[in-house]
Amino acid sequence: MQSISETIRNSGVIEIRDRLSSLSGGRVLDVGTQHGSFITVMMKSMKDYEAFVGIDISEKDLEKARDAVPDDSVEFRIMDAEDLKYKNDSYDTVCLSYSLHHLENVDIVLGEMMRVLKPGGHLILQEMYSDGDQTDAQRTEILEHHLGARIDRVEGIPHYDTFSRQQLKDIVNGLGLSSVEVYETAWSLKCLYCENSHQCEDPRSEYNLEFGREEIQRILDRAKDHSEMDDVQDEARLLLERVENTGLHSASLLFFICKK
Ligand SMILES: C[S@@+](CC[C@H](N)C(=O)[O-])C[C@H]1O[C@@H](n2cnc3c(N)ncnc32)[C@H](O)[C@@H]1O
Repeated sequence: MQSISETIRNSGVIEIRDRLSSLSGGRVLDVGTQHGSFITVMMKSMKDYEAFVGIDISEKDLEKARDAVPDDSVEFRIMDAEDLKYKNDSYDTVCLSYSLHHLENVDIVLGEMMRVLKPGGHLILQEMYSDGDQTDAQRTEILEHHLGARIDRVEGIPHYDTFSRQQLKDIVNGLGLSSVEVYETAWSLKCLYCENSHQCEDPRSEYNLEFGREEIQRILDRAKDHSEMDDVQDEARLLLERVENTGLHSASLLFFICKK
C-alpha cells in the first residue's frame, strides 16, 4: 500500500477499508463492473474471499476488465443486471460501485441483487452524491458529470444525474436489509492503493486541471455531433472556464455495508 497522506487518512476512507478487512467475501458478485476496478480494490481490502464474478452489459468494457484483472479467481460475464442468470441465495456478497446512476431501472437491478444474495450475506454499495457540503472543486466535478450524462442519454446510453445523500439512503433503507452501515468520504477506496493519489490532493494541481480540461473537451467534442445540443456546448465552455478557477476534486460518496 502507498504511504497515505493526512488528508486522505482523515477523510473517512480508512474506516471503510478497516471495516472491509473484517469481512470474508466468500463468493462475490460485482454488478456493473466495467473494467473490474472495484473487484481489484475489494480483493485488496476484504479479509478473504473465495471468488469474484464481475458482470456488465458492455462487452467492450469487459474486454478491458479481463486484461486489467487477469486472476484465476475472477470471472467476467456479459449480463443484464435486470435479469441475473443466478439462482436465489447464490452469492455471499453483492457489490455495486458508482453504477446506481447508470441504471435504467434501479429497483429492478437492486431487486435482482437482493434475490441472489444469501440471507446473512453482504450488500456493498458505493455511490457519489450531488448535494451536501461539497467544495467548489467537487461541484465542478458534479456539473461535469451531469453534462456528460446528458450526452450519454442523447446517444441512448442510460446515465442520469447523481442522487442526493438522502435519496441514496432512502433507496438502501428501502431494501429491507437486517443492518445498514453508512460511511461517508471524499476519497475513494481505490485512492488508498493508487501511487498518484498525492497528485489529486490539490484541486488546482496541473494533474487535476489537465484531467478536468480533457474530460470537458471530450464532452464538447461529443456535443458538436448533436446540433440540437447547443446549450450543452455553451455549458461545456463555461465549465472549461470554471475548472480553471475552482480546480477539480472527486465528489463525496456514501459507502454502504449492509447485511441481508
Ligand atoms: C460507472 S460504470 C461502473 C464503474 C465500476 N463499477 C467501478 O467501480 O469502477 C457503470 C457501469 O454500469 C454498466 N451497466 C449499466 N446498466 C447495466 C445493466 N443493466 N446491466 C449490467 N451493467 C450495466 C455500464 O455498462 C457501466 O460499465
